[in-house]
Amino acid sequence: MRHSTLRQFEVFEAIARLGSFTRAAEELYLTQPTVSMQIKKLAEAVGLPLFEQVGKKMYLTDAGRELHQTCRGIFEHLAHFEMVTSDMKGLKTGKLRLAVVTTAKYFAPRLLGMFCQQYPGVEVSLKVSNRERVLERLAGNQDDLYILGQPPEEVDVVAEAFLENPLVVLAPAQHVLAHKKKIPLKRIAEEPFLLRESGSGTRIATERVFAEQGLKLKMRMELGSNEAIKQAVIGGLGVSVLSSQTLALDAPSGQFVILDVQGFPIHRHWYFAYPAGKQLSIVARTFVDYLRQASSLMGVPAH
Ligand code: PGA
Repeated sequence: MRHSTLRQFEVFEAIARLGSFTRAAEELYLTQPTVSMQIKKLAEAVGLPLFEQVGKKMYLTDAGRELHQTCRGIFEHLAHFEMVTSDMKGLKTGKLRLAVVTTAKYFAPRLLGMFCQQYPGVEVSLKVSNRERVLERLAGNQDDLYILGQPPEEVDVVAEAFLENPLVVLAPAQHVLAHKKKIPLKRIAEEPFLLRESGSGTRIATERVFAEQGLKLKMRMELGSNEAIKQAVIGGLGVSVLSSQTLALDAPSGQFVILDVQGFPIHRHWYFAYPAGKQLSIVARTFVDYLRQASSLMGVPAH
């Protein structure tokens, strides 16, 4: 056991939490053979198997469950130690672990860039995944702060809106509805629709608006990214609902239009959140204050 490394614990913790070698490899940017090798070595050091496979599912053994708890304890202690020492050093150094939903990648790196210029000693890590994965990370207390389009109901969190996030209906420029005014929602529900993958916050908010009117979308295709959706809209595969932030960096190409649909834009906000009761590090607290001014930094209204 003494020769097991922190890296092996990290790999093991990720597999135990995500229930999959593949997803753990993805999250840690490792290859699957590396992950398997690390776990093999760890199991040898423990002297007992850590996982068992029943059918297609993988379960922790009793030894695996004990080790999972031990790993989480170790990582929490280490994070606490890092926080205490960076508090001691003031803001000169320290880590900021941020996890954001996919759509926030259109503004979060810019905000971080400005923050890092102000605090060059701060080391930032940014995880980008869809809402479902970000909520898993939040539930596991894996990061300092989370940015998402709506605070979760399932977990007790502290959350605050800091930026507007309007969702708009996007169509190819030559679409028959392109210049119509006040298009009824029912009419949009008749169009072939492009949706993000399930678990996406954009998709949840979109489906909710239509469901509230008793409407079901005619899904033409499910796509795993905002960029793929934009390309598919341009390609004439259908219409879609996306955050207007996803359009912010596009040169006005004239290839798609925002439709004037009743009930749109959906007025959403970006929230920062963290688990209730979590003690924020000085770096995270500073970043929170910085986010509160984000709207003026980004040149858009906060609420
Ligand atoms: P998504 O989240 O990138 O998972 O769609 C965006 C949001 O919640 O607004």
